[in-house]
Amino acid sequence: MNESPVLQLEGVAKSFGPVIALRSGSLTLEPGSIHALIGENGAGKSTLVKIMAGLYRRDSGDFRLHGEPVDFSTTAQSKAAGIAVIYQEPTLFPDLSVTENIFMGRQPTGRLGRIDRRSMRQETAQIFGRLGVTMDPDRITEGLSIADQQIIEIAKAISLDASVLIMDEPTAALSGVEVERLFAVARSLRDEGRAVLFISHRFDEVFALCDTVTVMRDGAYIATTPISETTVDQLVRQMVGRDVTELFPKQTVPIGEPLLEVSGLTSAGVFHDISFDVRAGEIVALAGLVGAGRSEVARAVFGIDPYSAGEVRLLGRTVPRSSPTDAMRAGLALVPEDRRKQGLVIESGVGQNITLSIRRQLSKFGILTTGMENRAAKVWASRLEVKTHALDTVAGTLSGGNQQKVVLAKWLATNPRVLIVDEPTRGIDVGTKAEVHRLLSELAGQGIGILMISSELPEVLGMADRVLVMHEGRITAELPRAEATSENVMFAATHSTEQHR
Ligand SMILES: Nc1ncnc2c1ncn2[C@@H]1O[C@H](COP(=O)(O)OP(=O)(O)OP(=O)(O)O)[C@@H](O)[C@H]1O
Ligand SMILES: [Mg+2]
Repeated sequence: MNESPVLQLEGVAKSFGPVIALRSGSLTLEPGSIHALIGENGAGKSTLVKIMAGLYRRDSGDFRLHGEPVDFSTTAQSKAAGIAVIYQEPTLFPDLSVTENIFMGRQPTGRLGRIDRRSMRQETAQIFGRLGVTMDPDRITEGLSIADQQIIEIAKAISLDASVLIMDEPTAALSGVEVERLFAVARSLRDEGRAVLFISHRFDEVFALCDTVTVMRDGAYIATTPISETTVDQLVRQMVGRDVTELFPKQTVPIGEPLLEVSGLTSAGVFHDISFDVRAGEIVALAGLVGAGRSEVARAVFGIDPYSAGEVRLLGRTVPRSSPTDAMRAGLALVPEDRRKQGLVIESGVGQNITLSIRRQLSKFGILTTGMENRAAKVWASRLEVKTHALDTVAGTLSGGNQQKVVLAKWLATNPRVLIVDEPTRGIDVGTKAEVHRLLSELAGQGIGILMISSELPEVLGMADRVLVMHEGRITAELPRAEATSENVMFAATHSTEQHR
């Protein structure tokens, strides 16, 4: 820790009109260290990142790189100064090769000014080797997983010899194996003496990977602590300003009639012979590894994707295939996994987004005013602690987690009989997580049936009355709450038959 810091921010502030995104952000990054940045949704983490990336310009405060004051007005300046930002969803050129993407805009030229492809390929292969990653430098990037695309961005940062690598919620869209590989890469970056900043809402990741942690709350710096000297409880208190006692507030609810009945649902190559039901008052978890086909089943049930065989029934009636509108009318709702892409009208207001699916019911004599919308939306927005100072705030300017909450609110407002939620708390901070769980529990208490897809085992075990486990497109286990242990669920998630019985 005697080395001087690579990057220092002190009392940095940023406002957008009346919205104070950042009051006083402070952060010190040391070389050869992985630093976690945590805080509730809307705490200002991404805003701080964007200032470092040259995407936003700070209003005030101190920003130093290698001890020298800097003030970036473009991302190119930040890059040139050695700061690389890896976003949740990288933006590569799909029809260029891996190598071409890494050297985009600065191809080394050999004699006669010709692009020296050979040395580009060699350097790419060498960086992958150093990172312990196997990927063909010549393949085009179209069709690569998000995890692979992130690795390409990291390789690019290394080839530019970036001294600071910033990852803003990089693991949100990754599977377990991919997270492990990203962590291995981050550790080798640290061992090469680079400074790594890692943003995540998952404490297990923060503790597994990071050396130091900085907590932000309400746009301000709260504390920086070596990871070995802190605990989850302490971090939660710093983030939320209070104790979060019960993360899984599950009510005991009498289980009623089957509401949703799915039988023999099949879509060639995606999922096969899926049968299950969800009863009134019941929370059924659909567990499994990323890629097991859980979201695909949900999308088929809700009519977004087609299926080739099988039937979906709601309250005893067949739900027509391939029509989300009919599914919604029948009483189904689906909160999608990728809420930003699939559920949010970025340019509309928060209130409008929340009431989007219930406009018909809300309007009186065909008239729907913003005031009427906002009154209906307000209930849900405050329930889910959507941090925005007005309901007409444009949804696209909300923090990532708050956008997720808006979409959740929108579907809850439709008053469904059966609610399908895909990764309901992904990207959502710990305080609101408890609130989302309480809400699901309450909805079940009102007799709604809930199908919850979740990759977080504690959430599955804490909330579900029954756990269905999928592996490679098939249901491999159905476990009542009493038998749903992490061992049983993990076993079924990784094996193709019901051998565990
Ligand atoms: N371009 C913008 N215009 C208006 N407000 C903005 C803009 N960018 C951010 N904000 C506001 O600044 C605050 C901080 O947002 P930021 O994205 O930094 O939060 P975050 O800590 O990254 O949260 P999350 O964990 O949800 O990603 C939020 O209230 C957000 O609505
Ligand atoms: Mg963010």
